[in-house]
Amino acid sequence: MNTPRCPRRVGILTGGGDCPGLNAVIRAVTQSLLRQCGAEVIGIEDGFAGLLCEPPRARRLDWDSVSGILLLGGTILGSSNRANPLASQAATALALANVRRLGLDALVVIGGDGSMTIAHALAQQGLAIVGVPKTIDNDLYGCERSFGFDTAVATVTEALERIQTTAHSHRRVMIVETMGRWAGWIALEAGLAGAADAILLPELDYDLPTLARHCQARLLRERYSVICIGEGAKARGGSATLQAATWPVAEPAAAPSAPLRLGGVAHLLCQQLQPLMQAEVRATVLGHVQRGGSPTPFDRVLATLYGNQAAQLLLQGHFGRMVTLSGGQLGHIALAEVAQQQRTVPPGHPLLQAAQQIGVCLGQAEPGQTLFYA
Ligand code: F6P
Repeated sequence: MNTPRCPRRVGILTGGGDCPGLNAVIRAVTQSLLRQCGAEVIGIEDGFAGLLCEPPRARRLDWDSVSGILLLGGTILGSSNRANPLASQAATALALANVRRLGLDALVVIGGDGSMTIAHALAQQGLAIVGVPKTIDNDLYGCERSFGFDTAVATVTEALERIQTTAHSHRRVMIVETMGRWAGWIALEAGLAGAADAILLPELDYDLPTLARHCQARLLRERYSVICIGEGAKARGGSATLQAATWPVAEPAAAPSAPLRLGGVAHLLCQQLQPLMQAEVRATVLGHVQRGGSPTPFDRVLATLYGNQAAQLLLQGHFGRMVTLSGGQLGHIALAEVAQQQRTVPPGHPLLQAAQQIGVCLGQAEPGQTLFYA
């Protein structure tokens, strides 16, 4: 039942850090293509790493191989956030040659900003590519909700709830660090959902004395205080907290431009805050627990819609595009617009305003004083 525009053989890969909902997209793309045009679907293993091997690592996906994976966290195909076809001309040439060797006439790239930048570059080389926005960070340009974000927010919210009971018992200030890179979406939404007293974001450098006063007042009133901080946050005048960039596993064409590894700002803040507090201050770094586990129902639906939309774009011959959600509507945007961009929390965002208006400390000067935006 081939239609005139139907691709015969479509590759699909999951690139970058994993997140809940990847399997739901793989399933939807595969089922939609199989059902609508009978295209052969080829799963490329370990993200772009699978395209940088000789021979490429790939396997055929059929109804059976995607059956029962909707609820599964992670990705059945594996992923990599180190392999980069743009690392050198030779790597780019190898990736393109492998696409030809696999006989692919289109490629679905499920990934975050790094993967979309790679996808854009490969599209410029003539590959028929469709992108699907994935990341717990929710920082993809042109898309108001990447799948995986809702699940991460739910995980952090539950952690904040649990931290509150132990903080109360011990009269402590507890700092909970979330992922999110340079975007504070996870910390902001989970902080609001989990009733954090203070929410600190990479977009708003925090003022330590203001934060200390807020937590001390809360300690006196309520016995405890909980701070939710995004990993990319920093004190006014300070710099972001980085982890050592060590790559324990050699990967083909590991990017010289591999992303900085953030993490540990909660421990730094603990040291900064402790001398100013009349209570013990403790830090919890949630780390990869935010990326694991089964997707929420919202993410299962969103990922399914995104996967199906990617298949529709392929069938309609819309290449070089990334699926989007904008104003609650499915759409698509040119990869050229998404590449090298990030969507951070903008100044004056309604969630920031609401947080401030209900008395959540954003680490900014007290009302009446000047607001500082990084
Ligand atoms: O981009 C997703 C993300 O989970 C970020 O929030 C985090 O900084 C990074 O990936 C961690 O990557 P890795 O798995 O390489 O430690």
